Amino acid sequence: MSLVVGVGLRAGTPFAELQDLVTTALRELAGDVQLVVTITGKEHDPALQELVAQLGAELRTFSNEELAQQQVPTPSERVDQLKGTSSVAEAAVLATGAHLVIPKRRTPNTTIAIGVQRAAGYDLRDREVVQRVIAERRDVRRGFLDVPVDDVTLGRVLEAAHRAPSVGLSQPWDFLVIRDLATRRKVHDLATAQRDAFAASLPEDRRAAFDGLKIEAILDTPLNLAVTCDPGRGGRHVLGRHADPRTTTFSAAIAIQNLWLAARAEGIGVGWVSFFEPGEIAAILDLPAHIELVGYLCVGYVDEFAPAPELVRSGWAKRRPLSWAIHHEEWGRRDTSIVDDARQATQNAVPAGGQRVRVVVGGHVDLQEADVLAVDLGAERPPADFGVLWRPARTPVEAVEFGVEIARDLALQGVGQLVVQLAENSERAEALARGLQVGASACGLTHSSA
Ligand SMILES: Cc1cc2nc3c(=O)[nH]c(=O)nc-3n(C[C@H](O)[C@H](O)[C@H](O)COP(=O)(O)O)c2cc1C
Repeated sequence: MSLVVGVGLRAGTPFAELQDLVTTALRELAGDVQLVVTITGKEHDPALQELVAQLGAELRTFSNEELAQQQVPTPSERVDQLKGTSSVAEAAVLATGAHLVIPKRRTPNTTIAIGVQRAAGYDLRDREVVQRVIAERRDVRRGFLDVPVDDVTLGRVLEAAHRAPSVGLSQPWDFLVIRDLATRRKVHDLATAQRDAFAASLPEDRRAAFDGLKIEAILDTPLNLAVTCDPGRGGRHVLGRHADPRTTTFSAAIAIQNLWLAARAEGIGVGWVSFFEPGEIAAILDLPAHIELVGYLCVGYVDEFAPAPELVRSGWAKRRPLSWAIHHEEWGRRDTSIVDDARQATQNAVPAGGQRVRVVVGGHVDLQEADVLAVDLGAERPPADFGVLWRPARTPVEAVEFGVEIARDLALQGVGQLVVQLAENSERAEALARGLQVGASACGLTHSSA
């Protein structure tokens, strides 16, 4: 830990008095003093000079105007009258950007305060640029220009991807750059077939909305990038992967995000396509059997970046409020209770239009009909099926919350009407059904019981 000692002292302060105060305080902390700070004019004080020499530290001074700007915990009116700043020791520590760990301590002739130095963040303008590229990154599927991406620019984008964090620094990614039209046509055929299959699985009104969406730009962009993952990269003892093999895929996905952001900064649009069965796309790309595809990206210059996601602008889906996503210390403990929040929101809810979903809570369900969503409350994870939501609520209170969340989540996905069917006779099932009604009211969904 790198420490900063702030000192205020009267002329003629004996060194022993200052040394005693500082040494006693430093015994409470682990770390080295890198910096001693004080008010301009005190830099030649003999006691201070001796302290700096003894500690092997650097001495820095701040003017009384700079010190006066600091918000200190222990201001002094007397010091203010004498020096034009209500603090010297504490203010000098804070003026370095350090975090105060020992507030002001004093002897008759001297005051000290100690802080720990923090690594510097970026200045405001740079922070705004970082936030801007994150906010203005878009998944782009339309408006690609017939302009090639040169190798130097592509190199910068791939360099950003390659700088991504990875489990055990295993760097499990590879980037397959595909320009060949024949290959892209084959990939396009796969995406088209998957698009048709997805459309066929949708309820009628949702299918009509989906028909208006563009889900890929494989042939519209000058190049496609397949980002792959080698789950075995790094051998047997990759640090951090032993307990969770998914971490390799996470690493490759983060590389894609780096790529996406760097491309945005270059004015290059990226559209991620996942309408593939993994084995089929791997065969077309002739991937070795141990290599997995993580992301297939359509890349090229675009005429513009839309201000909001296409799925939001088309009304297909909505953004989830950040406050729903943040839990403090325990799952479910949000800044506001999701149930109270939903009850309040009910008063202002605007009636929603859109898809009808029949939510069946508990029991055995026939998933043949496309508008059915089954909620399984059992302790055992059911086999993977997007028609089944597994919500093993631990208490009735949690069941209500899960119900509210399900309804709100469905509303974000364009659902306008809920039919709630109770297929299990239990307190938790009833609570979850109640939550569904509360959540539905909050989002303006029409809801009924079957
Ligand atoms: C893993 C993943 C797969 C995606 N697959 C597709 C896809 O197949 N087709 C598509 O149009 N968009 C796809 N997207 C883009 C998302 O729809 C998009 O990120 C989301 O709507 C938010 O929009 P934004 O990226 O412009 O902020 C995918 C995104 C991710 C992260």
